[in-house]
Amino acid sequence: MKRPIAQFAATGRGIPERVMTNHDFASIGIETSDEWIVERTGIRERHIAAPGETTCTMAAAAARQAMERAGVHAGDLDMIVLSTATTDRLLPSTAVDLQAELGATRAAAFDISAACAGFIYGTSVAEAMIAAGSAETVLVVGAERMSSIIDWTDRATCVLFGDGAGAAIVRPAKQGRGILGSFIRSDGALANLLYRPAGGAAHPFDEQVLNDRSFYVKMAGREVFKHAVRSMAEACDRALDAAKLTSADIDLLIPHQANVRIIEATAKHANMPMDKVYVNVDRYGNTSSASIPIALDEAIETGRVQEGSTVLLVGFGAGFTWGSMVVRF
Ligand code: UT7
Repeated sequence: MKRPIAQFAATGRGIPERVMTNHDFASIGIETSDEWIVERTGIRERHIAAPGETTCTMAAAAARQAMERAGVHAGDLDMIVLSTATTDRLLPSTAVDLQAELGATRAAAFDISAACAGFIYGTSVAEAMIAAGSAETVLVVGAERMSSIIDWTDRATCVLFGDGAGAAIVRPAKQGRGILGSFIRSDGALANLLYRPAGGAAHPFDEQVLNDRSFYVKMAGREVFKHAVRSMAEACDRALDAAKLTSADIDLLIPHQANVRIIEATAKHANMPMDKVYVNVDRYGNTSSASIPIALDEAIETGRVQEGSTVLLVGFGAGFTWGSMVVRF
């Protein structure tokens, strides 16, 4: 096991108040059922941002909670790493909006685009900056307003996603606690299985894009499902190997929350009984890069993660990107 370099000092979350249940899709003309959604995904409801509630405002709520719990002031932040697939504006980054909102005047702030694995990627960047001596106090955020980029006429995707943000303060490790092993990987050859075809610089927004609805998320669900199961299994093994631990050493598995069937397959591969797996996809749907920090924050708040707990985080998403991390609290 390597000596940990960085640890989570505290976490927080920012969740929109508005809840949309599976039954509510009927009112917007979507032909689906609670039974189909629960059986195929495990999702029962999701939070949807209200007008004016943005990626930045949700990120700020999560960040403020994490900072308060860590006893960190805005002026202490050296760096803000914000993972999002739903940047509020195409330029500049949402991280700089968050910086201004928090008044974190000393920080370098930037977004990363690594979809549902983004919190693992962001924390890896924070750890590396701390290891290099370039930062001491880093705010890592996963924040998503997925309701802005999903096609509300496509039942195959619109039932899956939700909005929210999770944040963590990452600082130098103390007393052997912190990140014991991690792994990140991507495969851009598979990008078109889960993507937004147009609206970016390669195919800027125009009338055709509007008519084709090609600025919304498109997903080959079954293909993504297969890759998610395979890659999350690999990621669990790689982080455990890096930490020189086995699943018997893990107190809680916190996987990305996209589909309870993917979570169950990951747990089975990792040899973790479901009572040692954190599941909240039923209440949030898939919040992309926010899902792992939201789940981690809930797990800490409810006492499922305590001082001394060893936790395995694992995520997979568009890109494809995937990653994992073993953390001792
Ligand atoms: O964040 C990481 C990336 N995302 C994921 O990890 C998601 C990965 N994929 C999945 O979770 C699953 O593939 C889905 C939940 C998206 C779909 O489940 P599935 O069991 O793979 O269903 P399917 O796409 O193969 O569709 C089965 C049937 C189709 O009807 P036919 O062709 O069999 O007649 C669909 O038209 O279910 C139909 N269907 C629906 N029916 C009711 C698709 N969406 C719905 C819906 N309500 N919302």
